[in-house]
Amino acid sequence: MSRKKLIAGNWKMNLCAKKAEDFANEMKGTVNTDAVDVVFCVPYVHLSAMKGIFAGTKIGVGAQNMHYAASGAYTGEISGEMLASMDIPYVIIGHSERREYFKESDTEVNLKALAALEAGLTPIICIGETSKQRKSGRTFNVIRKQLAFAIDEMSADDMAKIVIAYEPIWAIGTGDVATKEQAEEVCALIREEVKAGHGQAAAEKIRILYGGSVAPENAKELFSMPNIDGGLVGGASLKASFEKVVHFE
Ligand code: PGA
Repeated sequence: MSRKKLIAGNWKMNLCAKKAEDFANEMKGTVNTDAVDVVFCVPYVHLSAMKGIFAGTKIGVGAQNMHYAASGAYTGEISGEMLASMDIPYVIIGHSERREYFKESDTEVNLKALAALEAGLTPIICIGETSKQRKSGRTFNVIRKQLAFAIDEMSADDMAKIVIAYEPIWAIGTGDVATKEQAEEVCALIREEVKAGHGQAAAEKIRILYGGSVAPENAKELFSMPNIDGGLVGGASLKASFEKVVHFE
């Protein structure tokens, strides 16, 4: 079983042009590894500049969202085809902030993930429970349901082309990181579900990330767990010390 780890930074709606370029140039000088895949998911307006800065480095560029239609009258939206046409390999789908603030439904998340695959992109599909759901013992049920919706209509082969990010909502941006046991238990559940639906081989291939207050201090213990194949990193991906998250070993 050899899954290459993926560490994806999620800049969210941060950094104006000059700051993004300065930070990217700094990262270019410090992030250098073949041991893991590294990608920064940046605001659309920076995609082109970041691609230029990271060209020839080990750092990839991804987007944070896309529309499920290939083109059309959707003012303000960006399609998977457009991202693919710029050679952007990754796109975050269904981040909890999009689900909460932009009312993205499970159905929409599924449509977007399918459209990303159709366009040849790797969707990083986010799922995760709220604090209330965890406290009332519903974590596993919530995860099973979100996952089933997200990967509906996908094939066993598709499992190798997608990434699932387990992001407990209570851990995002709070500093309240899940323990390695909590994160591992849910990532293992996700892999079990994939195995039940698509077989052992697919389950061994799919990459499952943990996200929520990942930082240099906790990256190693989280990423060393057997079912955690890397991380989706928000706040810590905007700091110089992100380099330490990437070189966690
Ligand atoms: P955080 O965000 O690392 O700042 O908690 C993670 C995410 O939202 O993807």
